[in-house]
Amino acid sequence: MEPVCIEDWEELAKRRLAPEIYDFIAGGAGLERSLQENIRALERVKLISRVLRGVSDVDTSAPRLSPLQSARTPATPMIVAPSAHHQLAHPDGERATLAAANQCGAPLIVSTMSDTPLETLCKNSAEPVMFQLYLYKDRGRNRDIIQQAQDAGCSALVLTVDVPRMGARLRDRRNSFDVKRYQKRTDQFDEPLSSEPPVPSQSGGVAAFVAEQLEPALSWADVDWVKNQTRMPLILKGVLHPQDAEIALKHDVDALYLSNHGGRQLDHHVSAIDMLPYIRQRVGESMPLIVDGGVRSGADILKALALGADAVGVGRPVLWGLAAAGAQGVAEVLRQLIDDLTLSMHLCGCASLADISQEIIWTKHPSYQGETL
Ligand SMILES: Cc1cc2nc3c(=O)[nH]c(=O)nc-3n(C[C@H](O)[C@H](O)[C@H](O)COP(=O)(O)O)c2cc1C
Repeated sequence: MEPVCIEDWEELAKRRLAPEIYDFIAGGAGLERSLQENIRALERVKLISRVLRGVSDVDTSAPRLSPLQSARTPATPMIVAPSAHHQLAHPDGERATLAAANQCGAPLIVSTMSDTPLETLCKNSAEPVMFQLYLYKDRGRNRDIIQQAQDAGCSALVLTVDVPRMGARLRDRRNSFDVKRYQKRTDQFDEPLSSEPPVPSQSGGVAAFVAEQLEPALSWADVDWVKNQTRMPLILKGVLHPQDAEIALKHDVDALYLSNHGGRQLDHHVSAIDMLPYIRQRVGESMPLIVDGGVRSGADILKALALGADAVGVGRPVLWGLAAAGAQGVAEVLRQLIDDLTLSMHLCGCASLADISQEIIWTKHPSYQGETL
């Protein structure tokens, strides 16, 4: 089968992965209502095209992201969302993801829980990467990690604030899933990219790691503390309430990343796409907004941009590409999404991101601003 959409890539990945690894990646918290809601919320938003605008070439470059990318303009408003343990999906892990992201001009956020050291990735990246931080209880450790990220040349620090504790991952409990059993650290960036499935090793668990190591009582004082540790721009990931977005403005946060963590934390949670118009209205035009959750096509990306996002994050689709075919699979997934975004923009009469606005959204959603039609 030639995979031509994200669902095809997921199917290929599912065949390739051990069932408990597939479940770890695909699953959400509780009854997975938030997970389903992410897809449904995007489905509810309808595009309405403009015609006869004389568009021939479509430019997907995203200049509003340049403050987060060391003044470079990414070729696409699609960011590879931070996700833990890429070696669960493929032995080449994050270095395969990085190679593909570089190839496609998509900014990459490296997770605190990367299987490959950040320095290794930064040293081998043509573009600056962003680093995602989970705040540890140990302040000294946080200080060291932030310093390392800055020294390695990371272009932004993404502080994830929606994991004071781990969501109830029922699939993982049913499977007695233990991430450490599959971990194999490869620090050798020069090793040729391979295609072997991951190898089981010793035991441990993500939930135990979160409970033992991470700060459960995160507060705005921590945001200020992190901000004071670095000159990297600070992005808060996991904000959904407009009042929190407004508070973030007062704390000099440089960008907001709206997310319900791919439905993996609070169940019965609102989707980020539904909160996006409210938050854009609350924070004004200048604050860069990234949104994620359930983005599975270029049309989804266009919807998010039209509702006020500057970029979308893509989580599981990247891992499906990685599991199915390593770096090549990730590159193919990213390329298909970019091609579909280009197509959708053209069909809506948008030549560049600057042409995208709420006028191409038709929805009965209460956030809809009718007068723009
Ligand atoms: C397997 C997996 C691991 C993840 N690990 C992290 C992480 O380490 N840090 C983080 O901030 N978010 C993490 N996330 C959440 C993603 O950054 C992102 O918010 C989510 O996947 C977006 O939804 P999508 O998968 O529907 O695109 C993870 C998501 C998945 C699926």
